[in-house]
Amino acid sequence: MKNQNWIRAEGFGESDCPVFFKKIFIKSKLKRATVLASAVGIYELYINGKKASDAYFAPGWTSYHNRIQYQSYDVAELLREGENEISIIAAPGWAVGYLGRGNTNHMFFDHISVTAAITVEYVDGNLDRYVTDKSWRVGSGEIVCSEFYHGEQQILGKPLELKGFAVEDTAPDTTLIPDEGCPVKEQERVTAVKLIITPKGERVIDFGQNLAGFTEIRIKGTKGDRVVISHAEVLDRKGNFYTKNLELARNVNVYVLSGEEDILKPHFSFQGYRYIRLDEYPFDEVDLSAFTSVAIYSEMQRTGDFICGNAKLNKLYGNTLWGQRSNFIDIPTDCPQRDERTGWTGDVQVFCRTSAINYDVDRFMRKWLRDVIIEQRSDGAVTSVVPGVSNRGERISTAWGDVCTVAPWELYLAYGDEDILRECFPMMVKWVNYMRKQGEEEYLWLGGDHYGDWLASDAILCPEVREGATQTDLIASAFFAYSTSILIKVGKILGEDMREYEDLYDNIKKTFRKFFIKDGLPTLYPKYDAFSTTRPVKGLTQTAITLVLRFGLYDGEEERQGLVDKLVSMIEENGGKMSSGFVGTPHILHALSENGRVDKAYDLLLCEENPSWLFSVNHGATTIWEHWDSIGDDGRFWNDNKNSFNHYAYGSVFDWVFGCALGINVSPKGAGYRKIIITPHPDKRLGFAAGSILTRQGRLRVRWTYEGDRIRYEIRIPKGTEATVRLDDGISRVCTTGNYCFEIEV
Ligand code: BGC
Repeated sequence: MKNQNWIRAEGFGESDCPVFFKKIFIKSKLKRATVLASAVGIYELYINGKKASDAYFAPGWTSYHNRIQYQSYDVAELLREGENEISIIAAPGWAVGYLGRGNTNHMFFDHISVTAAITVEYVDGNLDRYVTDKSWRVGSGEIVCSEFYHGEQQILGKPLELKGFAVEDTAPDTTLIPDEGCPVKEQERVTAVKLIITPKGERVIDFGQNLAGFTEIRIKGTKGDRVVISHAEVLDRKGNFYTKNLELARNVNVYVLSGEEDILKPHFSFQGYRYIRLDEYPFDEVDLSAFTSVAIYSEMQRTGDFICGNAKLNKLYGNTLWGQRSNFIDIPTDCPQRDERTGWTGDVQVFCRTSAINYDVDRFMRKWLRDVIIEQRSDGAVTSVVPGVSNRGERISTAWGDVCTVAPWELYLAYGDEDILRECFPMMVKWVNYMRKQGEEEYLWLGGDHYGDWLASDAILCPEVREGATQTDLIASAFFAYSTSILIKVGKILGEDMREYEDLYDNIKKTFRKFFIKDGLPTLYPKYDAFSTTRPVKGLTQTAITLVLRFGLYDGEEERQGLVDKLVSMIEENGGKMSSGFVGTPHILHALSENGRVDKAYDLLLCEENPSWLFSVNHGATTIWEHWDSIGDDGRFWNDNKNSFNHYAYGSVFDWVFGCALGINVSPKGAGYRKIIITPHPDKRLGFAAGSILTRQGRLRVRWTYEGDRIRYEIRIPKGTEATVRLDDGISRVCTTGNYCFEIEV
């Protein structure tokens, strides 16, 4: 977008939503009419009162100091001959609004500004151009003020109150780029399930589904009547509306009715919620059909599907999908409800493979990864929150920063496009070199300020500590090896000379083994890590063994067997349960199944006691919880703060369900599902399992069913895919496009 002309409004409060508008005159028949527009803040473009797009929150969230997207609108249909009005309503959004914990606002810029260029081409060859300038007027409209965290206030039917002319503004110090993301749009519509009068006597509506979006209310009241709604993810033990876990985010929408038929919904805010409370509502009777909960998230094609004979596991899959929907709102976030909702890199690192099974996330993730590239520090560090938010995520942490190697690799496997590797390769090199320089030992990452095995239950000795028990020196050094191994694979695909990094990998492994492996098992580095003063750390944990197995840091068959045996015995000693957190959990089932213990992996998958995946399902979860026991057995909350009911991280278990239970694996020799290996691992407890992925080659399906003493496999291979199918009979079959059916005796 050239010749940007930025304007701003004067005399508005910090959360207010100015309307910029101008009359333009269309002289004759149009050939084409285009608007290019952007904002510091978020905006909606209207022509003659009609919204020019059904997308929310343009220009989207990018690393604003480096790049802001602009959108292009074809508006010919909305214009008519004669006088027309073009208007832009803007709100603080991510760039100017409250963002990050501690309730800080004006994160990036201290005021809203907008820019637009309208090009009108007539059939007769004439051309008119209008840009935002001081001839534009400014007013205050129906949308009075809005914040992502705090909600929106509207006065419906309020005539536009003129406040004067726009002021020309200096262009923000950044680059304007064409939109490269997926527009946030209204998606599923969920009807209200029931009206609850809580013990406190409050009127609460349950939609039965936690999600990110808003409640749309259709209502005709008396002019001036107020509707005020609060949002909550859960009710407390007594059945009362509970908002403490939203922390400093108020999540309240306020509407003053016009007296006509009103449709109430926010434009520049969203809430993470399942329940609403009617704080003010003009009627004694509540007609539930007037209330709809609308999910909003980035437009992505749904690709994955899963169903099996275990209803709870099916529910868990549904919860995982909802976790993704709720947190793929322009960037991948940790949660959609409290005063956070930011791009935590560790959460995506663990969830990216599952996300690419569920939806086509190629475009969505690439846009965000470009910000990871841009925000990588000059020393190679990758911060824990991208785009950066001033008071969050400045800690440089293992498993969080590693998103820069893991996510591009997963995108490559899923979509087979080398460009993503090419684009991310320099970032990966810098990250690996950064790790190399940390601590006193070149081949280990010692010290540092890591999040560790975040929220692992083995930190139980110190309940206030969230970093888990596993020594972070061990985790960081294991991930150093892992990222280096990915870097080597990527470099080789790109034709780079990777000998230096192959040597580095060998040295990391050697040094890791020297300090972290004793008698074939992980052990403590003889030096406490950064948290040693506040918490006891361990070398031998389920997570430590898991990482050693998964990242190939063992030597020989015997050691491998010893590790998996120990892992199994530690699980058994722990009552048949996991003790891992964000770092170990995504890998633990793989560590078991890849090493001959598919049975144990299924045991964990199907475990219903805390900590387990199905524990939350048994406690009524409709999304994935941040903590295994966000609500405990006694109905108490884990805590009032840092207790989200909509974090997708543990939903990463579905990369195991697809990869091992159904056995669908992409071969790096044929990324993008051109070459795949299908090795299903049926388990009688499920009865059957069926899943499909819409790959770039077409739909791929695997189904297995127990039928008496036989297992029946039905497999569909799309065109352009070559599959090596290995079933329990030990025979390896090469299958190309078509439908296959095999039966094997149990
Ligand atoms: C977020 C996490 C994140 C973590 C860092 C939290 O506040 O919600 O999901 O990864 O901080 O450890």
